[in-house]
Amino acid sequence: MGFQLGLFSPNTESGLAITTVPERWSASWDDNLRLARLADEAGIDFMLPVARWTDWGRDTAFHQSVLDPLVWASGLLAATRRIRVFTTVHTAFHHPVVAAKQLATADHLSAGRVGLNIVAGWHAPEYEMFGLSLPSDHDTRYAYAQEWWDIVSRIWSSAEPFDHDGRFFQLKRVVGAPKPYNGRSLPTINAGSSKQGRSFAARNADRAFTVVGGPEDGAEIVKAIRAEAATHRRTVGVFTLGHVVCAPTRAEARERLRHYADEHADWPAVDEVMRLQGLHAQSFTPEMLQLHRDRFAAGHGSCPLVGDPDDVADAIAAFAGAGFDGIALSFLNYADELGYFAAEVIPRLEARGVRAARPGATAAGA
Ligand SMILES: Cc1cc2nc3c(=O)[nH]c(=O)nc-3n(C[C@H](O)[C@H](O)[C@H](O)COP(=O)(O)O)c2cc1C
Repeated sequence: MGFQLGLFSPNTESGLAITTVPERWSASWDDNLRLARLADEAGIDFMLPVARWTDWGRDTAFHQSVLDPLVWASGLLAATRRIRVFTTVHTAFHHPVVAAKQLATADHLSAGRVGLNIVAGWHAPEYEMFGLSLPSDHDTRYAYAQEWWDIVSRIWSSAEPFDHDGRFFQLKRVVGAPKPYNGRSLPTINAGSSKQGRSFAARNADRAFTVVGGPEDGAEIVKAIRAEAATHRRTVGVFTLGHVVCAPTRAEARERLRHYADEHADWPAVDEVMRLQGLHAQSFTPEMLQLHRDRFAAGHGSCPLVGDPDDVADAIAAFAGAGFDGIALSFLNYADELGYFAAEVIPRLEARGVRAARPGATAAGA
């Protein structure tokens, strides 16, 4: 299949763009449905939602409205034919017995196309909403996530009821049926960039989803995650994320970026997101937080994929060259912009050998 392309965060109002322009992403159900059908048709490999329970506490449209990732994924899976749709599950807020049942159900309704993104949690106000407190150290957060995942995967693999007597859960006579559609498990992602997050992915997930500065530092991170997975006799795919601004000319693309992510950036929200990330998560290194305020406005700190179709194809190809298995993309307005990306950039990726040509597709920009 080659390098995978996905769409990240279309279930959230404004997507990853922290901006006030009126054409920003609505995240309405109708727009998501239109997007999923376009993506299915265009050969996009996966969609990946963000799990968010509370907004960022500023007078802004950024992430005020967020469709629930599992309900969203189930609806989209029922309306599409081919694409994989992940759901994102907070281990702290979803009981593992409930999650195992819901995920298996979504897998059956889609004949095996749902995937699971496991997030360990970091946003303290969300914990307070649930009457919980965020464990201050990453070791405890990921120990909790490990126990959560051990229970979910055991429910899926166990024919007999079992008891679980752990540090965080004490459960009696646990059972769950149906099992996932393939009778075993679902494709899993772990999203996290700290040492503990990447280790969790190396031990448990099929894909590590991680933030990098670009292809150069990314190549080192890919090697490190793969090497750590190999110590557990596992292989893991490594994915990152980027925001696309693609136009017929480089100048036009740069002007669009300047318009939404500079002139009309929602700077108070940008600063609040960065402050909270710096306080509680290690998804971004302190250097990234210092250097990349502009990237937060444009795409929540993800890598820029900006320019004409050749520029954007080159930028994506550089991640494939660095060893990544795929990238999840965001757009200012996903459904309005995906058609152009699919028509102009995907054939260029095929021509560059980054993706296998789809039957009937014509190469461009070779
Ligand atoms: C690519 C990526 C996507 C993430 N998506 C979510 C999300 O949807 N919801 C959430 O609360 N946290 C999300 N996170 C946060 C992580 O799941 C994790 O809890 C947080 O990054 C703190 O862990 P870390 O310091 O290991 O990165 C994401 C992190 C990354 C790197």
